[in-house]
Amino acid sequence: MSATRLPLIAGNWKMNLNHLEATAFTQKLAWSLRDAKYDPAEVEVAIFPPFTDLRSVQVITEAEKLSLKTGAQDVSEHESGAYTGDISAKFLTKLGCSYAIVGHSERREGHHETDEIVGRKAAAAAAAGLVPVLCIGETAEDLKQHGAAAVPVSQLENALAEIPAEAELVVAYEPVWAIGSGSAATPEQAQEVCKALREKLTELRGADFAEATRILYGGSVKAENIAGFMAEPDIDGALVGGASLKVDEFTNIVKF
Ligand code: 13P
Repeated sequence: MSATRLPLIAGNWKMNLNHLEATAFTQKLAWSLRDAKYDPAEVEVAIFPPFTDLRSVQVITEAEKLSLKTGAQDVSEHESGAYTGDISAKFLTKLGCSYAIVGHSERREGHHETDEIVGRKAAAAAAAGLVPVLCIGETAEDLKQHGAAAVPVSQLENALAEIPAEAELVVAYEPVWAIGSGSAATPEQAQEVCKALREKLTELRGADFAEATRILYGGSVKAENIAGFMAEPDIDGALVGGASLKVDEFTNIVKF
């Protein structure tokens, strides 16, 4: 974590919690953060509920003026038209979203999303005023064959080719082997890759952009391991899956 970048703790709910459960959960999370004296000036918190929850979460966050940002777990690369089942970035902006995750490994794998598609999704998000959270990360096989940094760095480079140079983004390094496995990367492993990603950002977007861009680590982040990641100079927060569905655990992650 650096003195100049605001840390971001992001909770990716994946396909969990219906809209009624989401309302209750969001309320509980807000109380829990308040009790823990959470200060939004020190850490930003964003939650990423399923699409069908976003309106309910918007209503409660606006009505109660909660200091929680929201985002979607995916977005269409298209603005509107005959794309059955897809969701436009413009619809997400209307729902009060600040962010959209693009390129999560579960979508790359299950929905055959390439770096180019992921890059176009990020560009569509940015064009609508959202900040894309660009997910990249190597599989266990990639790690064995190419080492940790090569695949995520090339995924970043390929996606950036589709994204306008001025578009703000958040990068989330999520090694596929660490997601949902209970065994996270070590802070040193994650730092090594995040440093290589920042160097690539410097090369392709310039030093100011690279210095301002937040790079998150994701993959089995818990309250007990978050501090180690946040102590690393190129890790600016976390993209949390399973542990973001437990109010106390997520609050303790935010309070790293
Ligand atoms: P877990 O925290 O459950 O490993 O999930 C990480 C993730 O995929 C967040 O996007």
